[in-house]
Amino acid sequence: MSQDAVIVGAGLIGCGIAYELAKRGASVTVYDRAEPARAASWAGAGMLAPYSEEVVDPALLALCAASLRAYPAFVDDLRERTGLDAELRREGTLHVAFDDASADARSAQCDAFRRNGAAASVLDRDATLAREPMLGGNVRGAVYVANEAHVDNRRLGRALVAACTDAGVRFERTAGVALEADARRVRGIRTEHGFAAAGTVVNAAGAWAGQLEGVPAGARIAVRPVAGEMLALAVPKGFTRGLVWSQHVYLVPRDDGRLLIGATSVERNFDVRVTARGVQALLDVALRIAPVLGTFALVETWAGLRPASHDGRPYLGATSIGGYFVAAGHYRNGILLTPVTAQAIAALISGERPPVELAAFDPQRAPEAA
Ligand code: GLY
Repeated sequence: MSQDAVIVGAGLIGCGIAYELAKRGASVTVYDRAEPARAASWAGAGMLAPYSEEVVDPALLALCAASLRAYPAFVDDLRERTGLDAELRREGTLHVAFDDASADARSAQCDAFRRNGAAASVLDRDATLAREPMLGGNVRGAVYVANEAHVDNRRLGRALVAACTDAGVRFERTAGVALEADARRVRGIRTEHGFAAAGTVVNAAGAWAGQLEGVPAGARIAVRPVAGEMLALAVPKGFTRGLVWSQHVYLVPRDDGRLLIGATSVERNFDVRVTARGVQALLDVALRIAPVLGTFALVETWAGLRPASHDGRPYLGATSIGGYFVAAGHYRNGILLTPVTAQAIAALISGERPPVELAAFDPQRAPEAA
């Protein structure tokens, strides 16, 4: 059976593209080794926080800002279609200072956030504690970024997969996928079940995107896995309002009473063990942010793989092989970039004008494609 499009990778990015294509009437199948939305899409914290992530590359920042603007409609659409709410919370991010140096740096930090488009303000100690009363008594103040948000990415994954299924997208589990293409055009893919013809194939395989077999030399990309270890504590509901950030560690509340604490950043290939050192590093900072956290139960630890490109920008768009598209390398911002990536790639495939400028993200800039 031939189909219009095959998506390799059932993460949020792959499912988002599949959903957008199916809404346009395309027949779409998504292939993955694992259950849909169970790799980085499940492991992430769901932060929609490009300013706090210190994205400064203007092209990437514009892409992130466009996706942040698209999020409310994206989540609303999924809720209306499936009844599943991804719990988008627009409470902003608090960057907390606990020592003289970071307290003194607040004004410069705030200016830097504002230059990038953040709605940032400096808070004194009282205003900081009024926003997040759980903070440790030694807090000195904060910089507050109002225009950031968070979403429950696991719920979002469930909603998006349900929406895909409702729109007619098929999901196939497979041990492996190889692209089938001649020097000019894609013909489909091959799995252990045989050949599947398709006029369009999208590589949305996250940290594994560089490993897709059968890609001709001029269309290759390399993606590096960067592990992030995380943990969750069971805290009283409403314990924190929004994202809290200090010394590269962030706290992210969930409506179910978990508080996520993340994340380390370690390059050790595809190893997703959670190490004692990783947990210690996260808890050291978290308990400084709020010593009371030391009294709560540690209910979960996990790790995921961020897909990193060679220059920090995702690879988005067509390749030198007709019909073969790439949507990979979203690194720390894959959950944030899901709506804009889905809309832009689906538009490109459908011959429409993408809602954002994609030139800076051309997959053909990858050193492997030269
Ligand atoms: N976006 C959060 C992280 O990658 O740790």
